[in-house]
Amino acid sequence: MGSIQEIVCVTGASGFIGSWLVMRLLERGYIVRATVRDPENTKKVKHLLDLPKASTNLTLWKADLSIQGSYDDAINGCNGVFHVATPMDFESTDPENEVIKPTVEGILSIMKACKSANVKKVVFTSSAGTVDVAETQKPAYDESCWSDIEFCRRVKMTGWMYFVSKTLAEKTAWEYAKEHKIDFISIIPTLVVGPFLMPSFPPSLITALSPITKNESHYHIIKQGQFVHVDDLCMSHIYLYKHPEAEGRYICSSHNATILQLAKMLNDMYPEYKVPTEFEGVDDSLEVVSFSSKKLKGTGFEFKHSLEDMFSGAIETCREKGLIPLSN
Ligand SMILES: NC(=O)c1ccc[n+]([C@@H]2O[C@H](COP(=O)([O-])OP(=O)(O)OC[C@H]3O[C@@H](n4cnc5c(N)ncnc54)[C@H](OP(=O)(O)O)[C@@H]3O)[C@@H](O)[C@H]2O)c1
Repeated sequence: MGSIQEIVCVTGASGFIGSWLVMRLLERGYIVRATVRDPENTKKVKHLLDLPKASTNLTLWKADLSIQGSYDDAINGCNGVFHVATPMDFESTDPENEVIKPTVEGILSIMKACKSANVKKVVFTSSAGTVDVAETQKPAYDESCWSDIEFCRRVKMTGWMYFVSKTLAEKTAWEYAKEHKIDFISIIPTLVVGPFLMPSFPPSLITALSPITKNESHYHIIKQGQFVHVDDLCMSHIYLYKHPEAEGRYICSSHNATILQLAKMLNDMYPEYKVPTEFEGVDDSLEVVSFSSKKLKGTGFEFKHSLEDMFSGAIETCREKGLIPLSN
């Protein structure tokens, strides 16, 4: 159980990961200040307000990463901050100003607010995109690896602005944390899959469920994929927040699979979707690329969910909300 009346701020609380994290924190007795860009937008916040204990322990705060000082009020008086929010617009026509600048300046503004408010601990939801995007691919990655920003800017692959924004943001936060002695840790999820509370399609499920929706432009992302269940990820946030010796970066990833292995599993679980069994440039000899969660597991954290759990959770929620058909 969390300490009684511990006050924490969760940024990006309306999203896929943010809302699940808010739910788990409320269950554990935390007082949660949830930041969203538009608290008046009922469609985007109703799932938060409907959570058990929300009426007594949850408040909504308006904040935007593009506006300096925007998080000051929400953070002032908090013991801890979970910084989850990030702009995810891969189609942006002005990526430098719409994605990279708010992500980097936003985290700096949050770090400054944490320093002024004497926040005890800051947990940043980073991304695998800060780790493995580089000219040469490795068979395995750990926390010492960093993506190559110059390579991203030069090649401009799908999502390049997201990889640059998260890498620069994490590096900026580390510098600030070290200089100002803030207890800061980063958690690096791979592709997050599972059930969800938000009313719309979570961005990562567009990729994860692409073999079902036949969204071929996303196949390359999961050709040699790594996955984590949303609940394991959120529980790792709370676990490391409470862990007095947690320090540095933590990869949070429980399963590696090639797209062929994933397709076979999905066809066994949901034959009605007739998931493709052949993918361009992929055969049985394709090896998995692994992300090591050795450091996280070394703290005593245990993953509870299988790859099957992740996909059944995601598919069942999408079906309940009418976001995917019941069969192909
Ligand atoms: N899902 C994954 O597979 C995955 C993998 C690795 C890392 N992550 C990281 O996990 C975090 C959450 O991702 P998610 O999957 O939950 O995505 P999401 O559902 O899109 O949630 C992100 C939230 O950020 C908020 N946001 C966007 N632009 C903002 C801005 N300019 N200022 C303030 N808030 C803004 C949005 O909330 P409002 O519109 O309500 O303001 C949105 O709900 C991100 O930091 C992401 O990098 C996710």
